[in-house]
Amino acid sequence: MKKVSVGLLGFGTVGTGVVRLLTQEKERLEARMGCSIELKKVLVRNKNRPRKVLIDSRILTTDASDVLDDPEIDIIIELIGGVDKAYRYILRALQNKKNVVTANKDLMASYGEELLLEARKSKKDLFYEASVAGGIPILRTLTDSLAADRIVKLIGIVNGTTNYILSQMSHEGLSYEKSLQSAQSLGFAEADPTSDVEGLDAARKMVILSHLAFSIPVRMDDVKITGITDVTREDIVYAQKLGYTVKLVGVSEVNNGAIDVRVEPTLLPNGHPLASVDNENNAIYVYGSTLGETMYYGPGAGEGPTAVSVLSDLLAVIRNMNLGVTGNHIFLPRREMHNREENS
Ligand code: HSE
Repeated sequence: MKKVSVGLLGFGTVGTGVVRLLTQEKERLEARMGCSIELKKVLVRNKNRPRKVLIDSRILTTDASDVLDDPEIDIIIELIGGVDKAYRYILRALQNKKNVVTANKDLMASYGEELLLEARKSKKDLFYEASVAGGIPILRTLTDSLAADRIVKLIGIVNGTTNYILSQMSHEGLSYEKSLQSAQSLGFAEADPTSDVEGLDAARKMVILSHLAFSIPVRMDDVKITGITDVTREDIVYAQKLGYTVKLVGVSEVNNGAIDVRVEPTLLPNGHPLASVDNENNAIYVYGSTLGETMYYGPGAGEGPTAVSVLSDLLAVIRNMNLGVTGNHIFLPRREMHNREENS
C-alpha cells in the first residue's frame, strides 16, 4: 500500500487531539484513502514533557529542520500558533514542495494571500479549515457548497471563549473573571486570552470568512473591534429583562461595493437563532441572495472538534495527491491573483 508521511509542528491541545484521532481512526481512514498514513516527526518544545496521548518518543524532535527538510515528509500540519515562526515554517514547507494544513487564524488573517500564492507557485495545497469556528466546516461551505450564490451578509459567533463567558454570566450568574478562568481550564481560550476577550480572535476569523465570502481583500485594520471586557453582569440581566441576549457577534456585509466588517457585543432578540448558540459553540449565519438564510452551528473550539477539521483537511490533501491535483480555497479576488501571477 502507498504511504503518506506527515510531519506535525506543535503538540499542544489541538496537536494532542490530532494524534489521538489519527491513532483511533487510523484503520478506517487508511482504508478510505487507500494509503497508509504515517506520523513521521513531531516538533515539540520539550521532549521530556508528559503527554496526554500515547506517542513513540523517538519521533519527537526539537529541531524544526528534522520535520521541514525531511524529503520523505509529504504533508506538514502546523499547530504551533503565533505568526512569525509559523510563517517561516509554512513558507519553507511549501518551498520544499510539501503540502500544508494549518489551524492558524492569526497567520492566515495577516499573511493568507501571500502564503496561498506561494502554495499555487509550488503547486501544493495549503488548507486551513480549522482556523475558523473549530469543528464547523464553514470555509469549504463558503467556497464550494455556496459557490453559485452571491453572499450578501455574514453574521458570526466565532469565538468560543467569549461565547462561553457570556453564557456562563447569563445562565449561571457567574462573574466575568470566574467564567474566564473556567474557559481557560477547559482549553478554549488562547494562550493569552486578551485576543479572545478583546475581540481580536473573532476579528481574524471574520477577515478570513469575509475574504472567502466576498472575494474582497480585507485586512485587520478594516475591522471595527469592541471586545467583551466592559460587559457586566448587570448589562446581561437588564438585556434579559427586555427579551435580549448579549453575544459577541461579527458582522460582514458589502454596501455599495465597500465592505463593512465589525465585531462587537450585540443585543440579539431572544427569538433570533444566534441568541440560543451557547457555551463554546459557534455559528455562522449566511445570507445568500438566492438561497436566503442558512446557519452553520457546532463546537467552535477545543481539542476534539478542531482536530476533526485539521484531520479532514489532511484527508483532502491526500485525496488531491491521489488525483494529482491541488485545490486551494480561493482566497484572493481572482483578478488580483491573475495580475500578481502575470507580474511575478
Ligand atoms: N480561542 C479560540 C476560541 C479558539 O475561543 O474560539 C478557537 O479558535
